[in-house]
Amino acid sequence: MLVSVDPVYDPVSEESHKDPYPSYEHLREEFPLYYIARHDVWALSRYADIKNGLRDWETFSSAKGVELGSYVQFFGPGSIQELDPPRHDVLRKILAPRFLNKNVKSYEEMVRITARNLIGEFLQQEHVDLATEFTQKLPIATIFRILGIPESDLKWATKAGLQMLNRPPGESGPSPRAYELRAELVAYFESLVQEQQGGAYCDDVFGDIARAIDSGTMHLEEVQGLTLLLIAAGMETTTSLLGNIVHALGTGQVAGEDLASDQGEMSNTAIDEFLRFDAPAQWLARVTSKEVTLHGITLPTDSRVLMIFASGNRDPRAFENPAELVLSRDGSRNLAFGEGIHFCVGMPLARLETRVGIGELLSALPKFELNAAPVRYPSHVIRGYENIPIEIIR
Ligand code: HEM
Repeated sequence: MLVSVDPVYDPVSEESHKDPYPSYEHLREEFPLYYIARHDVWALSRYADIKNGLRDWETFSSAKGVELGSYVQFFGPGSIQELDPPRHDVLRKILAPRFLNKNVKSYEEMVRITARNLIGEFLQQEHVDLATEFTQKLPIATIFRILGIPESDLKWATKAGLQMLNRPPGESGPSPRAYELRAELVAYFESLVQEQQGGAYCDDVFGDIARAIDSGTMHLEEVQGLTLLLIAAGMETTTSLLGNIVHALGTGQVAGEDLASDQGEMSNTAIDEFLRFDAPAQWLARVTSKEVTLHGITLPTDSRVLMIFASGNRDPRAFENPAELVLSRDGSRNLAFGEGIHFCVGMPLARLETRVGIGELLSALPKFELNAAPVRYPSHVIRGYENIPIEIIR
């Protein structure tokens, strides 16, 4: 039997928030295509099925949103994550060059200084919450600077961005406050773009967008989705990766020396293994644009399907001993950055922030340990930490 009436898995349940991995294993082994009646969605959990599905964007479309409930299409027009070609490709081309590996290198100094400044603010304390003081602040300050937000507005924009993205537990959609903040941020971003239109282009994302609007490639109303996606994609996921690493250090699951193996910094291999082991974006959805048959079940057109990246990454058909974190493993085939046309634009930046951020943290705080229970980030998609209270050992 491939369809179960038992609640084998509910992506928004308390149980999944706590630890979804037992359910993923159950799905992979017994229900590789599983119908979740409560949300009227299907779930794919095996590595090969997810990879093939993500590569076939014509069958598994992103244009009807990649989330569940009223979070679907929250970012609005211009969010390339929720577009299919040809519009997806046009807008992605505006964004992509700035985030190529060779260009991202120019941000290293800025990321390092940001990390040092953040660490400097709590270094003398005995206790600190590394989630609120470090893992959340580093990615958002970085992406905001790359967007082109003036230093004088960084504090306000950071607070507004963090609050907009916050998802109180139990709420099935964005709060009224999240909608208000979205409107404030979008109006502000549009004004920064408009200031540059007509030729005063800065060397930042707003400059790229202003140039694209002037050339007729992009519309002003698409500023909303493109910039909000960048904030969310640039912040929540990297925060989660950094938090998972910091948490592993704080509990002793890994030792600082093992992580600082590459001239005091993390190697891409170790970063990839953390991504494989606990994918920051656990899943995202697609909607079928035609009938498709998988595991003997025919899904009608317009079926929403969750692609559970995190489950694919623990599939024993793809990775040996997948439930073990093995820092030397070549986990680069993992699905944490997606696959196909929507493959993460920010991978080089995420790796840079992690390498530099964790490197700086380890050199300033070689030893620290968790001194209270950590609190999970209140999201059913992003798996990470809201609070990581630690004690600095001197
Ligand atoms: C560890 C950190 C990160 C993880 C795990 C991650 C994960 C992902 C995943 C899974 C997707 C594919 C979405 C889909 O298939 O629907 C994606 C897309 C994307 N990511 Fe990332 N991301 C990370 C960091 C970043 C950063 C730092 C940026 C900033 C530039 C970024 C920008 C984007 C954008 C713009 C897309 C949409 C691409 C498209 O639809 O063509 N991400 N990311």
